[in-house]
Amino acid sequence: MFTHEELHVRAGRRTGLPIVVAVHSTVLGQALGGCRLWHYDDWRDGVEDALRLSAAMTAKNALAGLANGGGKTVVPLPPGVNVDADTRRALLHDVGDTIEALDGRYGTGPDVGTGPDDMVVIGERTPHVFCRPAAHGGSGSSSPGTAAGVIAALRATVARLDGDTELGGHTFAVVGLGSVGADVAGRLAAAGARLVVSDVRPDAETLAAELGARWSRPGDALTAEVDVVIPAALGGILTAELVPALRCRAVVGPANNQLAEPAVAGLLHERGILWAPDYVASAGGIVHAVASELYREPEDVVARRIERIGDTLTEIYAAGEAPDVTAEKLVAARLTPGTR
Ligand code: PHE
Repeated sequence: MFTHEELHVRAGRRTGLPIVVAVHSTVLGQALGGCRLWHYDDWRDGVEDALRLSAAMTAKNALAGLANGGGKTVVPLPPGVNVDADTRRALLHDVGDTIEALDGRYGTGPDVGTGPDDMVVIGERTPHVFCRPAAHGGSGSSSPGTAAGVIAALRATVARLDGDTELGGHTFAVVGLGSVGADVAGRLAAAGARLVVSDVRPDAETLAAELGARWSRPGDALTAEVDVVIPAALGGILTAELVPALRCRAVVGPANNQLAEPAVAGLLHERGILWAPDYVASAGGIVHAVASELYREPEDVVARRIERIGDTLTEIYAAGEAPDVTAEKLVAARLTPGTR
């Protein structure tokens, strides 16, 4: 069944590269979700990703209390194609035109492979763009907001595990040291937590040393004996095969679409491992962008809004069933007219 509102795939007028925009839902308002610029073996895999990621954005925005639906842009680069600076600009203009043609039903922001400077270029073709740098009138990188939301989620998690919200007495494995993962690791190190960290790029090892963290290979970090494993890289890493090998008590992180298949949430629950639905734990970035740019809230008010991610998670954990089941009920309730 096709459960999205719209799916657009077009060749960029300037670059001929495929641009995919999926609008999953505008029931709560303008669909929002970032622009992913990434390599895929086949552009069709990028379409699949856009469909999945946009649906997750509907859940993310609904549970974060935003008056926004979910959407996503994916620019699937063919294997081996690397865009130079000029092509990148042209490509981002192609993305901007594609978004502008949707008449405001969808707005974009940064995601894997794009950042605030790219939003400036997209913004030359459409006003429906978030997270431009402050000098360009935007709220800047969404990464610090996402990291703050993950910290709120981790506090709620250790409270559920051990009845206290002190992160310092706990151990964590951060899988992926991109802008969000590195920020989360830095905040945990500052809180005095013991850390294992990993990244596919070997040069990230210097960051591990700076943080006083134990460096590990990504596969080993996932199965490290820690309180919480924090997926902070690409999605699909929680597989049915991985679940029996896990030695953590909880999995809570910012990576979108962590489950290789939906049934893995049930397997984690059966093993007694707490899982924070990724669309709950990762909402801090978009909350920061929307609250700053649309609601014009000052930073301290925005920070309190991000903190509420912890309360949402506490409510989900308290239900005692598999967290995705509870979270999906909450999403459905929010999307049903008359209940919001
Ligand atoms: N990459 C962010 C996410 O996955 C998306 C985002 C979109 C952030 C729009 C800010 C604004 O949640």
